[in-house]
Amino acid sequence: MKRVIFNQKGGVGKTSITCNLAAAFAKSGKKTLVVDLDSQANCSKYLLGDRMETISHTVSDFFASTLSFRLFQDSLQETIYPTDYDNLYTIPSDDSLKELQPKLEGRYKIFKLGEAIDVAVEKLGFDEVLFDTPPALNFYSMSALMAVDAVLIPFDCDAFSADAILQVMEAVEEVRADHRPNLEVEGIIINHFQAQAKLPQQIIESLIEQELKILQPYLSSSVVMRESHSAGIPLPFYKSNHKLSKDFMGLAEALMKNKAGTDASNPKKGRKTRSKGAQKDMT
Ligand SMILES: Nc1ncnc2c1ncn2[C@@H]1O[C@H](COP(=O)(O)OP(=O)(O)OP(=O)(O)O)[C@@H](O)[C@H]1O
Ligand SMILES: [Mg+2]
Repeated sequence: MKRVIFNQKGGVGKTSITCNLAAAFAKSGKKTLVVDLDSQANCSKYLLGDRMETISHTVSDFFASTLSFRLFQDSLQETIYPTDYDNLYTIPSDDSLKELQPKLEGRYKIFKLGEAIDVAVEKLGFDEVLFDTPPALNFYSMSALMAVDAVLIPFDCDAFSADAILQVMEAVEEVRADHRPNLEVEGIIINHFQAQAKLPQQIIESLIEQELKILQPYLSSSVVMRESHSAGIPLPFYKSNHKLSKDFMGLAEALMKNKAGTDASNPKKGRKTRSKGAQKDMT
């Protein structure tokens, strides 16, 4: 299954969710690839730590190769690095993505990433692929939307963030109508949830009233997230007994159940009716 974690609003938890959900998939035995499409490269630093200084290829090299005569599909595989954790691999990014962007847009390269990911998934047998995106609807987030089966929208329980969700839904609708009829919004991931506070619950209720799909479990807010970022160790491997680590394991499990029997190379294989435990359907 190929998923993008996307919300153009900054700081809602895209990178934290991508890395920790991927770690939870990997810990559950799924061969998992994380693709960092943000020039900030926070995802790459979180997963590779100090090894970032020694890597020779990033996703920028892949995009640059699509502008030249190199065989771009194979060049993506050169950018895949194993992490320190079993089953977890990543394609890191770097800040040259910024200067490449206008050239890529001008040459209509929006489908190239999806084509190359499909080749890599087929050759290397990934079960799960997750894309981390920049806080903008730009060439890179659009490339990811063109490459995936499903979109996960992180939501930070802020009243001002509800509009951002609707903008993501509109972007997905456009891609679905024009290019990928099977693209779905798999659900909204509630991040920074504080069970004791009333406001987040009220905001979530209002999303439910709008018939938006809210995934379970909600991700609680905890300082352990920042600690795990600075340790450079994803939560399921850092403090596996912490509530937030268990939240991520539970979310991964719910998503896997949702798509039981589905792998990244064959999204339709074994697709089942949504399980009630995996999401609270709002109808
Ligand atoms: N559940 C959580 N509990 C506590 N802190 C969190 C949680 N989720 C994210 N954070 C913190 O919030 C900050 C923003 O998170 P993150 O970088 O994942 O967001 P982002 O959406 O990727 O940001 P950007 O839009 O800049 O890419 C980080 O400092 C991270 O440690
Ligand atoms: Mg980020």
